[in-house]
Amino acid sequence: MIPFVDLKSQYASIKPEVNAAIQGVLDSCAFTLGPEVAAFEQEFATYSGAKFGIGVNSGTSALHLALLAAGIGPGDEVITVPHTFVATVSAIHYSGARPVFVDIEPRSFTLDPTKLEAAITPKTKAIIPVHLYGQPADMDPICAIAKRHGVIVIEDACQAHGAEYKGRRVGSIGDMACFSFYPGKNLGAYGEGGLVVTDNPEYTRTIKMLRDWGAEKKYHHVLKGYNYRLEGIQGAILRVKLRHLEAWTKGRQMAAARYDQALKAAGAAVPEVMPYAKHVFHIYAVRTPNRQQWMDALQAQGIQTGIHYPTPVHLLPAFADLGYKAGQFPHSERAAAEVLSLPMFAELTAEQTAEVSRAIGQLVVAA
Ligand SMILES: Cc1ncc(COP(=O)(O)O)c(C=O)c1O
Repeated sequence: MIPFVDLKSQYASIKPEVNAAIQGVLDSCAFTLGPEVAAFEQEFATYSGAKFGIGVNSGTSALHLALLAAGIGPGDEVITVPHTFVATVSAIHYSGARPVFVDIEPRSFTLDPTKLEAAITPKTKAIIPVHLYGQPADMDPICAIAKRHGVIVIEDACQAHGAEYKGRRVGSIGDMACFSFYPGKNLGAYGEGGLVVTDNPEYTRTIKMLRDWGAEKKYHHVLKGYNYRLEGIQGAILRVKLRHLEAWTKGRQMAAARYDQALKAAGAAVPEVMPYAKHVFHIYAVRTPNRQQWMDALQAQGIQTGIHYPTPVHLLPAFADLGYKAGQFPHSERAAAEVLSLPMFAELTAEQTAEVSRAIGQLVVAA
């Protein structure tokens, strides 16, 4: 049995540290926000090359509050890609703005900058490139176009903790960046969590208020806010795990390199790392026109796989009201039909990657 992710083996490797961190919060009773969250915010901002970090209760909340802090709301348009997790688009919807899609560049699975300018209108207020699977979007042309049109860039870095674009960490490139600490992420909480990083003190001040009922100080509510606070226990756990993140990223990259070598030799379509990128392999997605057959065959051999994501957001029933039709974003639609995510986690062994690669090699030969 080769699982898709293995949170148990990771916990086993850090159990005493994590348990002590949780005990510390239990002893202090600082259950929401508090000193562990404040320390984690600073440590993660520094790690990402940003000045400020604001912890919230999910990556979705991070995106929502980043949009609100930038003053985005009804009547505005926000550009993103359809080949992403639905949360990117839901957060735009929460803000009251209209999501506008631009297709992906098919090798990187990220926003195609050559298609971006045509989507900008006088109503466009922000662009949300998604660093999908752990690979940054092509940020230089995206930021140049944004600057020319006076719109902001919010990085959706929910899958890309520690990834780099031309040597710069994601989180240090756009006006703001949003991270998720959902348990299966490269840096995962033991529950829900998220964070916004930015160099902008005004955005920081506004997001800090919005996550905690819009309060400037206790019971003085200057904004209509939310209960989006990050829990103390999650802050303490994330501090422990952040210390291991670079080693875990190396583990993922080594697993990806082993897959690359074996799968290329077998003739499978492996993920491309763009010349500008340090890819952190949250997801290792191969492409195949015979996906269902591959999934079934791998499952029969005890190998778990996933699909990220089977339907591009413009074709999901929830967003039918946006009025998009099949055929409008062909690269996103094709990716959604062909991608297959292989087991990927830091502790994946050479035997396991060899076993998965051997099983895929047989499928390539049979095709
Ligand atoms: C690309 C992307 N954006 C946003 C999110 C939302 O994060 P969360 O699940 O923490 O709300 C996720 C993760 O689930 C994601 O993968």
